[in-house]
Amino acid sequence: MRELIIDGELVKKFNPVHLEHHEFLPIAVENSRLITARSPRAVSNHEFIRNVGQLTTGYDTSFYTIQSELLKHELKLIKQGIYHRMLVSEKQNVVAPRGNILSVISNKGGVGKTTVSIELAHQFARLGLKVLLFDLDLGNADVSNKLKLFPENTLYNFFNKQVELDDLVVETEYGFHFIPGECGEFKLANMTWSQKQRFFRHIQNISFKYDLILFDLGAGITRHVIDFALMADDSCIVTTPNDIISGYAAAKAAFGRFVEINSKQTMSEGESREYTYSPWFILNQVHNIRHGNNLYQSLKQTIDQHVNQNSVFKITPEYLGSVVSDRDRLVDTYAKREIIGLRHPGSELALNYQQLASKYIGSGLDEDYVKPQRGSGLKRFVRMLGITSKF
Ligand SMILES: Nc1ncnc2c1ncn2[C@@H]1O[C@H](COP(=O)(O)OP(=O)(O)O)[C@@H](O)[C@H]1O
Ligand SMILES: [Mg+2]
Repeated sequence: MRELIIDGELVKKFNPVHLEHHEFLPIAVENSRLITARSPRAVSNHEFIRNVGQLTTGYDTSFYTIQSELLKHELKLIKQGIYHRMLVSEKQNVVAPRGNILSVISNKGGVGKTTVSIELAHQFARLGLKVLLFDLDLGNADVSNKLKLFPENTLYNFFNKQVELDDLVVETEYGFHFIPGECGEFKLANMTWSQKQRFFRHIQNISFKYDLILFDLGAGITRHVIDFALMADDSCIVTTPNDIISGYAAAKAAFGRFVEINSKQTMSEGESREYTYSPWFILNQVHNIRHGNNLYQSLKQTIDQHVNQNSVFKITPEYLGSVVSDRDRLVDTYAKREIIGLRHPGSELALNYQQLASKYIGSGLDEDYVKPQRGSGLKRFVRMLGITSKF
């Protein structure tokens, strides 16, 4: 066993600050010790993770003075999964597989979808994923409002065929890329079939460039919002202690459409029908973790009793986790064009977002874990639109 020690004492010599922030940049291995230096904020997370992966490959890494369990877990994820994926595609000179699309939905506005989407995008980027945050809230451009990012072109220009989707991508200072939504009259509901098809083609292309794409969808569960939610490989329903019924309603509405898509149409050769819809749930604004767990359990029970009893199609919800209520910190942070993960990295709020991201990525690496296959979302969308071309 080749052992590599990441030594907190050594790290401290370079700069004590970054240990608190759990950010460090490996620069060399010397006498089986990983020497690190402080990672300035501007350092690309991708480079950082690549560096960790490169330096720790071949070692059975142990962590000595670094106490944080979460940090250990994150480094394990980095070593097992993400870095491996990049390395394999690079070595074999093949294109990395299409990135996963995760949609964030809710029945009501104001439950915390956009905040969760932004903070998750940052946390995924921290873990080394190449992330695109896509503001699909076409009435409100919610991400732009929060981060005060108003690029010249928005989705509106894309749908008017003035620009391509690629042209809309902006880099942010938070480690992820971003496609802006629109504040105006244009709604998903107004999209024509050919606009949807064009959107689909572009998303399909762009998904090869990212490890993860997050859709922040507008409030409500109209047919159009749900179609976009189901276009994603995974959906995540955000709800709060005051809106549990709405969370249940969102799951049921998405499930209704899911069943419709999977029961009606004849499947083409080699395509299998999906029987279980597995949305993730996030309980936002809870008092504490136990509060979140309890609420989730009752939500799950309601689904089992009212939906799953007599149907071949089932909802098998999964719990991504909870986020504590901390309005003061959020308001103060966003007023300064900051995000929680950077401004208050040690806070419970930041830790919660970190845990959500870790759980989402970790679930994909767990061998016992059976999730819908990658690509199922876009295939679903093909069926919705009735596109006949081979996919
Ligand atoms: N964990 C939380 N604790 C306290 N307030 C929150 C939390 N998450 C979000 N909020 C607040 O709730 C409001 C709505 O959040 P937002 O993300 O815009 O929701 P949505 O996108 O669902 O409309 C914002 O004022 C936001 O600061
Ligand atoms: Mg929003």
